[in-house]
Amino acid sequence: MPGDSKLPRAAAGALPARPLLLALPFLSLLLLLYVYSSSTTSPSTATIAITSTAAAVPLTPSPPSPHIRMRAAARYGTYEDYLRHQLNKTLDPRLRRVWATRDWHRKVSTFARLFASLQREGLLTNASRALCVGARLGQEVAALRQVGVANAVGIDLAPAPPLVVRGDFHAQPFGDETFDFEFSNVFDHALYPDRFAAEIQRTLRPGGVAVIHVAVHRRGDKYSANDLLDVEGLVGLFRRCDVVRVSKVDAFGLDTEVILRKKRSAASAHHRP
Ligand SMILES: *[C@@H]1O[C@H](CO)[C@@H](O)[C@H](O)[C@H]1NC(C)=O
Ligand SMILES: *[C@@H]1O[C@H](CO)[C@@H](O)[C@H](O)[C@H]1NC(C)=O
Repeated sequence: MPGDSKLPRAAAGALPARPLLLALPFLSLLLLLYVYSSSTTSPSTATIAITSTAAAVPLTPSPPSPHIRMRAAARYGTYEDYLRHQLNKTLDPRLRRVWATRDWHRKVSTFARLFASLQREGLLTNASRALCVGARLGQEVAALRQVGVANAVGIDLAPAPPLVVRGDFHAQPFGDETFDFEFSNVFDHALYPDRFAAEIQRTLRPGGVAVIHVAVHRRGDKYSANDLLDVEGLVGLFRRCDVVRVSKVDAFGLDTEVILRKKRSAASAHHRP
């Protein structure tokens, strides 16, 4: 990786005047860092490196699919740094003002049309327990309630009561099989796309529906953590679901709608109402 080879070279260039003895501990630290960042297959090395250089070891999540490219993940020293970076957009006062005013009705009415058509198809009902993943101020939650889905809530890193509660999509604050329906348009923000998908599949009941809007042919913004190069990259993460359909959509910079239905496994079939 380019970042890895740059680090030791730059450091070596800064050291020539120092006696070799003084440089040794520093160089071995760099070596440790290098070994850790380039080894994902040796957990014991990783564990040792983490305990001795915790703050300096960058997060280097590996893409769970060849169709997903992780963005320069090394800029996050820790998971907290990643969360802080994401919150920086979510909490930006200027953006929040726009989302709450100029954007609000336009987005709620677009989402409401989308959800109404899912209702007509029977993929969503007024009785559905619905979750919007990464909902920011909750325009999609407001839209769900507007079309009659009273039991709808959103999660985001920052809460926006009463529509959105605090929650990380990498570790949803809900029990297994809680929801009949989940919607998200923030897949590109996932530092761990496989965990994003696993959590939706965990909290969805068997037979429940997930609708994911993604950008396949466009780039995300500077807060994106990954780029989806092919829709297969997303679909491949939802092994516990069948694909209902993949279609084009024009939704706030996102171009592809993926609708999935969680498989009704034999083990959980008897829990069905
Ligand atoms: C947060 O956003 C502000 C304004 O865009 C920027 O100046 C600042 O560097 C950002 N901080 C982080 C940690 O990304
Ligand atoms: C769902 O709720 C909406 C809004 O309250 C209502 O107009 C619609 O008739 C309801 N649909 C069904 C099938 O009850």
